[in-house]
Amino acid sequence: MNAISEKQNRQETERRRTFGIISHPDAGKTTLTEKLLLFGGAIQMAGSVKARKASRHAASDWMAIEQARGISVTSSVMQFSYRDCQINLLDTPGHQDFSEDTYRVLTAVDSAVMVIDSVKGVEPQTRKLMEVCRMRNTPIITFINKLDREGMAPLDIIDDIENTLQIECAPLSWPIGMGKRFKGTYNLYRKELNLFTPGQERLPDDVLTIRDTSDPRLDEILGSQAAELRQDVELLEGAANPFDMEDFLNGSQTPVFFGSAINNFGVRELLDTFVEIAPPPQPRPAATRMVYPEEKEFSGFVFKIQANMDPAHRDRIAFLRICSGRFERGMRVRHHRTGKTVQLANPITFMAQDREFAEEAWPGDIIGIHNHGTICIGDTFSEKELLWFTGVPSFAPEHFRRVRLKSPLKAKQLKKGVHQLVEEGAIQVFQPVLGSDLILGAVGVLQFDVTMERLKTEYGVDAAYEPAEYAAARWVRCTDKKKLDAFKKACQSHLATDARGELVYLAPTLWRLNYESEQWPDLTFLKTREYQ
Ligand code: G4P
Repeated sequence: MNAISEKQNRQETERRRTFGIISHPDAGKTTLTEKLLLFGGAIQMAGSVKARKASRHAASDWMAIEQARGISVTSSVMQFSYRDCQINLLDTPGHQDFSEDTYRVLTAVDSAVMVIDSVKGVEPQTRKLMEVCRMRNTPIITFINKLDREGMAPLDIIDDIENTLQIECAPLSWPIGMGKRFKGTYNLYRKELNLFTPGQERLPDDVLTIRDTSDPRLDEILGSQAAELRQDVELLEGAANPFDMEDFLNGSQTPVFFGSAINNFGVRELLDTFVEIAPPPQPRPAATRMVYPEEKEFSGFVFKIQANMDPAHRDRIAFLRICSGRFERGMRVRHHRTGKTVQLANPITFMAQDREFAEEAWPGDIIGIHNHGTICIGDTFSEKELLWFTGVPSFAPEHFRRVRLKSPLKAKQLKKGVHQLVEEGAIQVFQPVLGSDLILGAVGVLQFDVTMERLKTEYGVDAAYEPAEYAAARWVRCTDKKKLDAFKKACQSHLATDARGELVYLAPTLWRLNYESEQWPDLTFLKTREYQ
């Protein structure tokens, strides 16, 4: 790479923003996504994201899942531009049963927007996702939604976020009333009044600059609510945490906005601040060293695999997040797990709604690689130096099922189907050391229904589930071979290997798990492990 392209690399990296939206179902993630895409010019009409969600919602209906997956290849990553920035919005499936997938998507973002329903406050799924963000200290911007409804008092929501999620809040805007009395927001930093008109987004020059809240125009516009706003602003000036860029970037403070996504209110304010403060692609740890985005050699890792998106072609796409260097179509790269050199001939970008071929891409961008069964989640691709990016987790399943084939002749297909679904991260599989039945493990039970349906429709396997009485699974590691062998001998009937041949202890009860971990202090029982 010559000097000019190095400069270009830095510039392109600087203008990338790769983020995900975290929220509890129904807080307004889909609505907000849609408004963001509208501002970015990626969609022309409200309703397109919504329509997709409607089909995704009916998870019990297989056709709906199929349909949703068909469309969701383009929705898994949405790239759009806003001002000078290229934004990559990674979809984080909201349903808790798909949470493992969501967790992994969050390993590929540099920041997150957290949507909170002002009526409900912090909800369980948000709490879980926040824990994941905390693993990597991901910076988070908060959007408190549905101010057009009667909800919790703003200060109570802030308290709720601070106490439940253990993150300091720095309000950047403040609501004036709520529900029927919702008049808009006052931007505490820009000292601007954003007035609310249901169903409309104010243009930037519609915003009223009010440097001092004693300005009599406030009384004219807000009537009796002007006094409330003055009181609130005075209180906040004394008591609220000022925004601190460093604390935001290290994940200990979240700037807070209020608005109403459905009414397009507060979304532009959020987006304007987002492009200003959200971090560009950050350095990433690999097993041997830290990798910096501005490095000239290309590198990236796979955080998601999606199969059979086009039922006619059965193609599988590996989603790769670029961590450093410039990607060029046709580039030859090294695949760390296999050590082989491969050519990335027809990678896909996710510009606007359509899949397009990527001619070039930069750190922070996501490209889709056609996968014929050789790529796994967590795999790293790099230009010359063989790298392996760490930090893509796999979670121990909490639910288990035994698979029984209805026709023994289909054993081969079952193996193939399961193998591919495992590789995609849709399900986990365990082969008990004793016995021949496969045990499937999932983080959420819905994964079982989806797996069975897909085994049937995509692989022609007619099978049924039987209960598998396990309470937990743990990956077992030990450097002392003798001790490990002794454990294997003692606990043989509860041992299995996973798809990558790693030893797993399938605990019949949590009590037993505790007992065995006390009995075998030299062994580690891992609840999460990294793909490697
Ligand atoms: P999700 O992706 O987080 O699950 O939430 P989604 O955007 O689908 O929003 C969930 C519900 O909340 C939707 O209503 C949506 O219209 C509504 N909503 C989103 N933003 C606001 C807001 O600012 N104010 C109010 N009052 N409602 C909001 P729904 O009845 O489930 O769907 P629909 O019939 O409106 O499509």
